[in-house]
Amino acid sequence: MYRYTLVLKKTDNNTSSSQTDCYYYYINRLLSLKSFYYNNNNIILTEYWKTLFDERVGKTSWPYGSGVWSKKEWVLPGIDDDDIVSMFEGNSNLFWAERYGRECLGMNDLWVKQCGNSHTGSFKDLGMTALVSQVNRMRKQGKPLAAVGCASTGDTSAALSAYAAAAGIPSIVFLPKNKISLAQLVQPIANGALVLSIDTDFDGCMRLIREVTAELPIYLANSLNSLRLEGQKTAAIEILQQFNWEVPDYVIIPGGNLGNVYAFFKGFKMCKDLGLVDKLPRMVVAQAQNANPLYRAFKNGWENFAPIKAEPTFASAIQIGDPVSINRAIYALTECNGLVEEASEEEMMDEAARADLTGMFNCPHTGVALAALRKLRENQTIGPSDRVVVVSTAHGLKFTGTKIQYHAKEIEGFAATYANPPIDVAEDLGKVMDVLSQKLAN
Ligand SMILES: Cc1ncc(COP(=O)(O)O)c(C=O)c1O
Repeated sequence: MYRYTLVLKKTDNNTSSSQTDCYYYYINRLLSLKSFYYNNNNIILTEYWKTLFDERVGKTSWPYGSGVWSKKEWVLPGIDDDDIVSMFEGNSNLFWAERYGRECLGMNDLWVKQCGNSHTGSFKDLGMTALVSQVNRMRKQGKPLAAVGCASTGDTSAALSAYAAAAGIPSIVFLPKNKISLAQLVQPIANGALVLSIDTDFDGCMRLIREVTAELPIYLANSLNSLRLEGQKTAAIEILQQFNWEVPDYVIIPGGNLGNVYAFFKGFKMCKDLGLVDKLPRMVVAQAQNANPLYRAFKNGWENFAPIKAEPTFASAIQIGDPVSINRAIYALTECNGLVEEASEEEMMDEAARADLTGMFNCPHTGVALAALRKLRENQTIGPSDRVVVVSTAHGLKFTGTKIQYHAKEIEGFAATYANPPIDVAEDLGKVMDVLSQKLAN
């Protein structure tokens, strides 16, 4: 249960206009807010939060225009606004995938939460703003933190290096050599991070960074750090807010290290505990078949989880065999009657391409989630009118290399059914007309 003390103060004339008539201060662990508001006036408080969060959307007032900091009281209530490092992340669009749902899956209430439409192109920004803000604050208070560091499959390092650069904090990233996309690699390079490209996989990088941060005054920024999850949980709160506080039936999340599924659970659970909604959605973790330790544990009835050696996958950011947040993920899924599905390489690339043909531009991780949805529709677990949210975790433009390979039909063993390769034509009107008439006739 979340524990807070709530103290109401009278309006101060200097209050910025986007703030409400009251200041709310929290002191953790003194009083249960839940029992407080049930004993007092539940409705007023739940409406207070809803109105406050709604009022802040799309504003420029610092730092509340950020989707994360619009929920500051639920994320890091004690931090000074001046210490916050933000790019106004969050507030990502929740896209009604009308045509894709109707034509490809026989569904009428399918939504995609576009977390990749963000400063560094993935949901990692949501957690990194919280973590780097806290590090910034600690450094200002004189804590001897020389740098922030992380192991990454590409998106964490991009977010960490950008936020650290904004705050003037040195950053160090450990990346598995040749296992991330070019776009992901250039991001920390451009932001001035110290980039170590290590001849191992993510799990190897993770082991090394843990050892290094135990020895040196480098602040570990991986998602086992719960500050990250505090920021990431706002995406779940945002989904509820975007649906006017109606709870979707299913939320499908691609999972690797499994911090994000727990963060989503935290967001949903907090809204339930504080009375903003009355139930949890059923969460589904989607894994690549080549990196599926959670799926295997799920199929075993959660008995005897065993790490695996993750094999290469186009969904490279989730090529993780020994997830750090395994226990938290199993707890979250058990609490919400959740599920785990997997997708083969061909299934994820086909599904991403199929959905792209209806106007999206999906990364392979989102492809994994969409392929999982297809399986759950085919076996009737998910019904035609269920409200489903697929969490798109990164922008497809970070993964153009693999998408181009798919459309060029260069992937061995793939039929690449939805490939749409460009056609080379000479600079000649007749030849151009020939191609057009042939194509338009089909
Ligand atoms: C694009 C993308 N999708 C999904 C994930 C998986 O998130 P988590 O590791 O929290 O399960 C990651 C994490 O690296 C990612 O970068």
